[in-house]
Amino acid sequence: MQHHTKTDKQSETGSTIHDHPWLAHLIDEKEYLPPSYYAKLLKPYRAGGRNDLEIFGEFLSSLAPIPARALELGCGSGRATSVALRLLPTVELTAVDLSSSMLSAMPLDGRLRTLCSDICAYLLSAKCEAPYELIFSLWAFSHSVHMWLGRARTDPTVFDTAARAVRTMLTDRISPGGRFFIMHFDSLSEEQRVAMPQWAKVDAIFSDVESQSPSFRLIASIIEDLNRRGRVEAGVTHFQGEAIEYDGIEQALETYFNFHLEGRLNRAPAAELEKAVSEVTSALERHQDRSGRIVVVPSWFVFSGTRVE
Ligand SMILES: C[S@@+](CC[C@H](N)C(=O)[O-])C[C@H]1O[C@@H](n2cnc3c(N)ncnc32)[C@H](O)[C@@H]1O
Repeated sequence: MQHHTKTDKQSETGSTIHDHPWLAHLIDEKEYLPPSYYAKLLKPYRAGGRNDLEIFGEFLSSLAPIPARALELGCGSGRATSVALRLLPTVELTAVDLSSSMLSAMPLDGRLRTLCSDICAYLLSAKCEAPYELIFSLWAFSHSVHMWLGRARTDPTVFDTAARAVRTMLTDRISPGGRFFIMHFDSLSEEQRVAMPQWAKVDAIFSDVESQSPSFRLIASIIEDLNRRGRVEAGVTHFQGEAIEYDGIEQALETYFNFHLEGRLNRAPAAELEKAVSEVTSALERHQDRSGRIVVVPSWFVFSGTRVE
């Protein structure tokens, strides 16, 4: 009788999915993750004893006067939206997201209007009902910037869409004296260093894994330019997060492939997928403690400031 080793079997049947059933999730690029699965995989992002929403809440509580009109970019299922509606009791809020399923999970509130759109496209569109006294985005702005930077590699007609959108937001879409708040991932964090080499396979814009993400570099350089020219008063703050824990490799792999990597590698040819799983596993093992738990430290940035004129 012939015996198959596991490796033989895997190459014959592409059984990586059998070993990791969560790879079967089909994550649509436009629809992002189903809201309930997003909520299940989302880990707490805490720094200095408060979570990401509390950090955002501190920013909102510092605003005076309370903005009358605000825009949220990449609202998802409304985690930050609910905070804004609670802390800004008189605000009229427009919330934009590319995913209709995320938008269907948004809270209902008479002060809230939702719109299914790409972030950069909305900022550049004639339909953008600017100016807003406040524009905010948590963990979402980079998605749109990276989408357009990726497209620009093959389509010369969109080459500067992302840069135009960021500049337009800061100079035209915010009213003079208006404020902005963008929570943005740190691609050089311990947490993201596990994922970035895999993103480099998804899109060549991520190939420089030793530099901040293209989206961070773009936003930072535009803010620096507008600061220099006196158009905005803005800065960036780095948040060193508290460690995130996973029960073991399998739980961490699911979050990395289906959340951080948004399922983009799940449909790769069997050998590539197997290699990716093996690479992420090795990277995670470097953060494994004696009990088998994975402990990784996240960090992130907040761009915030005021439009001057
Ligand atoms: C990590 S989630 C953040 C959601 C929410 N802000 C939060 O903090 O829970 C990223 C969100 O960006 C949305 N998104 C992805 N690409 C987008 C794009 N090009 N334009 C608008 N939204 C986008 C996704 O649908 C998802 O809701």
